[in-house]
Amino acid sequence: MTDKKRILSGMRPTGPLHLGNFHGALANWIDMQDKYECFFFIADWHALTSDYEDTTRISEYVRQMVIDWLSVGLSPQKCTLFIQSKVPEHAELYLLLSMITPVPWLERNPTYKDQMVQLKNKDLSTFGFLGYPVLQAADIIIYKAQGVPVGIDQVPHVEITREIARRFNYLYGSVFPEPEAVLTETPKILGLDRRKMSKSYDNAIYLSDSSQEVGRKVMQMITDPQRKRRNDPGDPEICNVYAFHKMYSEEKTTQQCAEQCRAAEIGCVECKKIMAEGLLNRLEPIQEKQQYYRKHPELVMEIIDQGSKKAREVARETMSQVRQAIKLNY
Ligand code: TRP
Ligand code: SF4
Repeated sequence: MTDKKRILSGMRPTGPLHLGNFHGALANWIDMQDKYECFFFIADWHALTSDYEDTTRISEYVRQMVIDWLSVGLSPQKCTLFIQSKVPEHAELYLLLSMITPVPWLERNPTYKDQMVQLKNKDLSTFGFLGYPVLQAADIIIYKAQGVPVGIDQVPHVEITREIARRFNYLYGSVFPEPEAVLTETPKILGLDRRKMSKSYDNAIYLSDSSQEVGRKVMQMITDPQRKRRNDPGDPEICNVYAFHKMYSEEKTTQQCAEQCRAAEIGCVECKKIMAEGLLNRLEPIQEKQQYYRKHPELVMEIIDQGSKKAREVARETMSQVRQAIKLNY
């Protein structure tokens, strides 16, 4: 048990999860919980770095996220699920790490530069936003995690984490292993408009969408753009609906749709209806669990409290080593 590799990852509570999240990060986490000692947490403080002005929805998003995690099969029997702010030791380590982190490391962080340009409607010239990777470093190394499953966009943050861990070890003695990013495969499906599925593009199908919503969204999906008329043969390989078929329909159905598409024997509307059926079948058991947990909020809180307690024990132990290393152990 204890010689299993330790894995840690987190998500900011930005709203309900969509199929892109599911086939990206979550599928990976679900795999990993059987093989490694896993810690997965909701980064509510990180949500504040960009959304500090209006905090009214964060707690709702946190609750939703826990429910979604449990409903897709993350199991508190197999991994530790917790909320960042319920383990205040993260904040203590963040403060200590901030003392040794050179500001230029943060200023040249590509994600930082990128976000500053992209989120022009928010004032991100804050200390907290610049320090985002320092908090993330604290999240990771407080558990001495060896592997951090993340998307490619987060690799610079794991790299900064390694640099901070190295600097700490150099200054105060070896306390932290250097974690490695474990790259999450990019999901094989795109959003309704063929861009990356993302909440901010408004092109996502959510795990909690009703069958009507799923039906409506599937009808909006862009198919093979060359196929203008029903009588034109299509190319399933460049069609996102076909990519969905491959994920959600039976193999026979998928093959049949491809053949009929190439021969112009099926229209896109009909093809989409068939795919939506497969997708809804897949969503059904997930949504049943969502409903169950929505009806039992006390159970959800209990799971998170227990997980946060377990995480906190590990974090406390690390912090006592940290204080000793820094010689502030009185
Ligand atoms: N920055 C991550 C994201 O936006 C979330 C996160 C916070 C995280 N702390 C972490 C991910 C620690 C991995 C490990 O996706
Ligand atoms: Fe795509 Fe199906 Fe239309 Fe072919 S028939 S272009 S696979 S939606």
